[in-house]
Amino acid sequence: MTWVRVAGADELPAGEALKAEIDGTPVCVVRLDAETVKAVHDVCSHEDEALHEGWVEDNAIECPAHGSMFDLDSGEPTMLPATRPVPSYRARIAEGAIWVDRDQQLNDAPEPRH
Ligand code: FES
Repeated sequence: MTWVRVAGADELPAGEALKAEIDGTPVCVVRLDAETVKAVHDVCSHEDEALHEGWVEDNAIECPAHGSMFDLDSGEPTMLPATRPVPSYRARIAEGAIWVDRDQQLNDAPEPRH
């Protein structure tokens, strides 16, 4: 279990996403509201687009390339064309910062190639 600080809490507004690099893994970090952040692998399981460049909608992120939506807890696609999940990771806000623990994967999705 290794919590990594990826940004200050005031550096990511609600409804937006950023990319963090954790041990060589690109991670899409999403701020849902004042107290809630989520994290998924940043590479779309369809054709490798960067998810952090997409749009946040409720508890999902929409891929900017072809519109697949991924649930931010399960990592499962809820909209085609993607059919495979992306890894999701535990994330939190604490001590004025946003933290992600890549070792705590919340699903069993394989890492997309990148
Ligand atoms: S690359 Fe993400 S939906 Fe196609």
